[in-house]
Amino acid sequence: MSKSDKIYVAGHRGMVGSSIVRELENQGYKNIIIRTHSELDLTNQKQVQEFLSQEKPNEVYLAAAKVGGIFANDTYPADFIYQNLMIEANVIHAAFNSGVKKLLFLGSSCIYPKLADQPIKEDALLSGYLEPTNEPYAIAKIAGIKLCESYNRQYSESHGVDYRSVMPTNLYGPGDNYQPENSHVIPALIRRFHEAKINNDEKVIVWGSGNPKREFLYVDDMASASVHVMNLDKETYDRNTHQMCSHINVGMGEDLSIGELAKTLRKVIGFAGKIEFDSSKPDGSPRKLMDSSRLNSLGWSPRIELERGLILTYESYLKELKKLKNKQ
Ligand SMILES: NC(=O)c1ccc[n+]([C@@H]2O[C@H](COP(=O)([O-])OP(=O)(O)OC[C@H]3O[C@@H](n4cnc5c(N)ncnc54)[C@H](OP(=O)(O)O)[C@@H]3O)[C@@H](O)[C@H]2O)c1
Repeated sequence: MSKSDKIYVAGHRGMVGSSIVRELENQGYKNIIIRTHSELDLTNQKQVQEFLSQEKPNEVYLAAAKVGGIFANDTYPADFIYQNLMIEANVIHAAFNSGVKKLLFLGSSCIYPKLADQPIKEDALLSGYLEPTNEPYAIAKIAGIKLCESYNRQYSESHGVDYRSVMPTNLYGPGDNYQPENSHVIPALIRRFHEAKINNDEKVIVWGSGNPKREFLYVDDMASASVHVMNLDKETYDRNTHQMCSHINVGMGEDLSIGELAKTLRKVIGFAGKIEFDSSKPDGSPRKLMDSSRLNSLGWSPRIELERGLILTYESYLKELKKLKNKQ
């Protein structure tokens, strides 16, 4: 892979896509192509085919997706399954038609069964029932992995196709979504603690018992893992995966309870009040920790520990608020 090869990053305005672009630029890649959603709708087969056959990139990072928290997944299941299936099928098939040899698909840890053994290994995929709230999204993500595997199986020898998948744990960092109806737990809590601090509130209410344990990875670590996996030589990738279990987990390797996360955020944000847990709200799975030992043995490990990552994320949130204020 040469630093002047053409690389298309799909979803470059998103939290992960923007971080992948920064990582590639930092590593000296000079020929990165991007398109906004309004310039190129990835659910539109014709547009995607025309774009990729014109540009003929050497590599594709597929970080575009319809993404959201529990509420959005539960309210808009049709949008989540339809848009994600279309984006993956269009990009992967058009990449193949346009001669793209290397592609990295970003999935999610929700592909794993609700009751998978912890920490969750890659081979837990399709071994049990999924969490019902985001099943449509998870099914689309599983289809993305299987698309990559099927193109590899059919076209690896004849066309040199090498399409890989990574499964990130919960991610956070600059560029996250802070809209209350659509956000994940860290941006939702950052917003609530920050607003409580400004309003001098006595307490912040956190949904659930605070006991479930979750794993979180800073987005720049995810980006470095993505480039690392894309750049592993084929022999190494193939030796460490299987034709029909080819995805690689990307996680921090440790988890903490939502209660501990809330306390850390209270400290980072400087909120002086109390934290109250609302146990009438659902907890979700008791624990969700991925086994990332496959990736660790391939020479990658995370660099940004949680508290440092939360400080960086809060700083970027404050900058965003400032920008919004200046616009008004
Ligand atoms: N965030 C997490 O915690 C997390 C965890 C595990 C896995 N992942 C995976 O990582 C990937 C990136 O997630 P993210 O957090 O960066 O999401 P994000 O911030 O919502 O970014 C997704 C990007 O995809 C673009 N997009 C969506 N639909 C499109 C379409 N039809 N045509 C063109 N562009 C479209 C969005 O553009 P617009 O905003 O303009 O629509 C946005 O720039 C996804 O595959 C996700 O499943 C994320």
